[in-house]
Amino acid sequence: MVSTANLTIYLLEAILSHLTLSCALLLATLAAIRWYIRDSYKVDGFSQKHVFITGCDSGFGNLLARQLDRKGFQVMAACLTEKGAADLSTAASPRLKTFMLNVTDSASIRRAVEFVSKEVGERGLWGLVNNAGRSVPIGPTDWMQLEDFTKVLDVNLIGVIEVTLQFLPLLKKAHGRVVNTASILGRLSLTGGGYCLSKWGVEAFSDSLRRDMQHFGIKVSIIEPGFFKTGVTSLDLIEADQRRLWSCLPQDVKDSYGDTYLDDYVKAQEFSMGILCSPDISKVTRCMEHALTARFPRTRYGAGWDAKFFWIPLSYLPSFVSDLVINALLPLPKDKRHV
Ligand SMILES: NC(=O)c1ccc[n+]([C@@H]2O[C@H](COP(=O)([O-])OP(=O)(O)OC[C@H]3O[C@@H](n4cnc5c(N)ncnc54)[C@H](OP(=O)(O)O)[C@@H]3O)[C@@H](O)[C@H]2O)c1
Repeated sequence: MVSTANLTIYLLEAILSHLTLSCALLLATLAAIRWYIRDSYKVDGFSQKHVFITGCDSGFGNLLARQLDRKGFQVMAACLTEKGAADLSTAASPRLKTFMLNVTDSASIRRAVEFVSKEVGERGLWGLVNNAGRSVPIGPTDWMQLEDFTKVLDVNLIGVIEVTLQFLPLLKKAHGRVVNTASILGRLSLTGGGYCLSKWGVEAFSDSLRRDMQHFGIKVSIIEPGFFKTGVTSLDLIEADQRRLWSCLPQDVKDSYGDTYLDDYVKAQEFSMGILCSPDISKVTRCMEHALTARFPRTRYGAGWDAKFFWIPLSYLPSFVSDLVINALLPLPKDKRHV
């Protein structure tokens, strides 16, 4: 028989555990509400703030430049081509200024700094968005030569580092922001070539920059987009380059892959990119805009559902899981079938 004392203890324990669970839920809800409110605070005076964006001919950079221009920011949009600059000027207000910049050319970067210094004066530079990038060549590692790696690293990593270093004095003046465009490929190496390496490098560079520059009031955010339809994911460009790489391979390497490998690879790539690439690039530029306008910008922004719910979680799992997923997306070389 259950005594009255035992029953009382049992009831008290049940009430206590119920209370503990309710308190934990309440605290979690309050923390989420606090985070949400804090995340929505904005800085003011957009019209007094200068933002410099690289790679504005197309894609994220182009949309971000027009988006910030509409918000009243003083946008300085760096383009690689005259045509890109002319088209952007036509699509934006007279406030937006375009400038020619090749991020692999130190002299071009120095000219950009001079131009920006004159524009911003004593105010300094509020925002630097390192966005310029290229993807090709991408493909199996043994299809590459050393220069295939360096031509991507020069734009996507060394370009980001040099542009940032040159602009730091102007950013310090304004206690400004650096927004670096990495990728989910900076967390998971899905393909050979320089692209993934460059984005892992951008992640590491941005982490050290954030820690070192916080003492000077500079905030650093990293954008990690999933897959979006833009120039860097253009299948025509990627496939044409893969055919070039294949045509340069020695016959024994081609034999180890098999006659049909290139076509199978291209087909598998077309299939997965067709499913993965989102046409809504505003998901990325909204993250960039938040990093420039929020009073408390986030350190990392996963942009796109695939990044948030698939690639970033996958990057925390053991490597054999990501190996399985990536292997399932690509065909097997002929020699592998005999191993
Ligand atoms: N699209 C995606 O799925 C995705 C995902 C993750 C990260 N990203 C990153 O997002 C950034 C923007 O790319 P996007 O997707 O918007 O593709 P995009 O339309 O090709 O934009 C890249 C821009 O960078 C410019 N550029 C290339 N080389 C340059 C150089 N040496 N100096 C200055 N500018 C140069 C390109 O100019 P041209 O057009 O004249 O070549 C282009 O305007 C890149 O860093 C890319 O790696 C893209």
